[in-house]
Amino acid sequence: MFAVMQSQQFSDEFNQPTAVDLLYFEQLLPGRCLSERAQLEAYSHDHTEDLIFYPGLVLLPNSTEEVSKIMQYCNAQKIAVTAAGARTGLSGGCLPIHGGVLLSTEKLNRIIDIDVKNAQVMTEPGVITEELQNAVREKGLFYPPDPASKGSCFIGGNISENSGGPKAVKYGVTKDYVLNLEIVLADGTVMWTGANVLKNATGYNLTQLVVGSEGTLAIVTKIVLKLLPHPTHDLLMLVPFFDAQQACEAVAAIFQAGITPSGLEFMEQNALRWSQAFSGDYTIEVKDTHAAHLLIEVDGFDPEQLMKECEGILGVLDQFQTDEILFAESEAQKTALWSLRRKVGEAVKVQSVYKEEDTVVPRYQLPNLLSTVKAIGQKYGFESVCYGHAGDGNLHVNIIKGDLSETFWQEELTDAIRELFTEVIRMGGTISGEHGIGLVQKPYMDLAFSQTGLSLMRGIKKVFDPNGILNPGKIF
Ligand code: LAC
Ligand code: ZN
Repeated sequence: MFAVMQSQQFSDEFNQPTAVDLLYFEQLLPGRCLSERAQLEAYSHDHTEDLIFYPGLVLLPNSTEEVSKIMQYCNAQKIAVTAAGARTGLSGGCLPIHGGVLLSTEKLNRIIDIDVKNAQVMTEPGVITEELQNAVREKGLFYPPDPASKGSCFIGGNISENSGGPKAVKYGVTKDYVLNLEIVLADGTVMWTGANVLKNATGYNLTQLVVGSEGTLAIVTKIVLKLLPHPTHDLLMLVPFFDAQQACEAVAAIFQAGITPSGLEFMEQNALRWSQAFSGDYTIEVKDTHAAHLLIEVDGFDPEQLMKECEGILGVLDQFQTDEILFAESEAQKTALWSLRRKVGEAVKVQSVYKEEDTVVPRYQLPNLLSTVKAIGQKYGFESVCYGHAGDGNLHVNIIKGDLSETFWQEELTDAIRELFTEVIRMGGTISGEHGIGLVQKPYMDLAFSQTGLSLMRGIKKVFDPNGILNPGKIF
C-alpha cells in the first residue's frame, strides 16, 4: 500500500549523477545501468511503511572488481551510494534518500562454494536466503537464520541488518554465523575482514562491525558462513490463549522449565485473523475468545527427546488457561501454520498504513512490554497489532493508522513511540531486535545510546568512509 512520494530534498554535500557519469557507468556496466524513471521505480521503495525515495541511477555490478570501480568513481565524484539487496527491509535501510547511485547486488548471486568438510559456505550477497538454505540442506547442512521474508530476501541484506527470524530463539541471528566477509570500502579498496575459522581472537572484530552496519561502512561482496548439521525431526503446536498477557507469561516459563524451543512465536488475535484473510487459509478456527496464540516448535535428531520436550511444554502450559492445542500432523500442516505466521507482516500492510516498531526486551519482561504497548495506545488513541519472536522477547508492534488524522500520525505518534521506547529501555531492552535502525528508527537513537556512544559510531563511520558517501542519512 504505497502513498504519495515523499518530497526528496537532496543535500548539497553530494553530487547527483550527471550525463557524463551515466556515460562512464554505461561503459563500465553495459546493459546494467538503469536510468529511466520507470526502471527506477522498483528501487524507490522497500517493505518499510509507505516510503518512496528515487535514486538517480541504479547500477547492477556482477563482480567485486566492478563494485570497486563504482566506489572509486563515486568517492572521487562525491556521489552517494546506497547498496540494496531484495529490498524487503523494514526500517528503510536501503532507501536512497539522497538520490545518487543505488548499487543493487542482484547480479552478485552465485553460491561460490559449499565446503562440506568444514561445514561452511561462501556466497555472494545477492542469493535468496531460502535458496542458500536449500542448497546447503542438500548436503545435510543447516543455515538457521530465517527471516519472515526468507523466500525473497537476500543473504547480503540479512548481513546488513543482522536479521533474525523464528529460529533465532534456539540458533541465534545472522551475526552468529558470519565468519568472514569480503568488503569494498568507500574508496574502492577490496579486503577480507577476518578468516574462515570458528575462533578468531585476532585484533578488532571487523567482521562483526560490518554485520548490521546497514551499508554505511562498506559494500559486502562475499560472505563466509558457518553451518550446522540439519536437524532431522521437528514438532509444531499452536496454542490458543484466552488472555494475551498469559501467553506472554508462558514464554519465560517454558525456558525456566529447561526447554529451548526452535521457534516460540506470539500472535495477537488480529495478527492471525488478518493473516488468514490475506492467505485465504481458514483451516484453523480462531475463536473470539482466543486473544492470542503461541506457535511452538521443537527440533532435533531424536524423536523421543522431542516428545519429552513437548510433554515438558504441555506441563508448563497446564498452569495457564489455554483452549485446545493443535499439533501439526503432517509436513503440509506445519508448512501451512508457518506460512500463516510468516505472512502476518504482509497481511498488516494490506489492512492499513502502519508503523512497525521492532521492540525487544529481556524475555521475562514480555508481559510487561505488551501491557505497556496497550496502555500507551489507550493514552494516545491508537490501535496496535502485536506479534513476533516471543522467545527472544522481540515483539513487532504494528501501529495501525486506520482513520487517525495525518497530524496525529506525523506529530503526536512520534511522542507515543518515544514513550514506548523509553519504557522498553527502562525494561532493559532496546529499540530494534532485528529490523535495524535505517531511516525510520533514527530519530530515537538518542534513547538507545548516550552521546558518547553515538560519537564513537560517528568516528567509526568517518574512518571507513571519510566522505560519508555510503548510505548517507541512516542510523544516526
Ligand atoms: C516477522 C518480520 C516482520 O517476524 O520480522 O514477520
Ligand atoms: Zn520478525
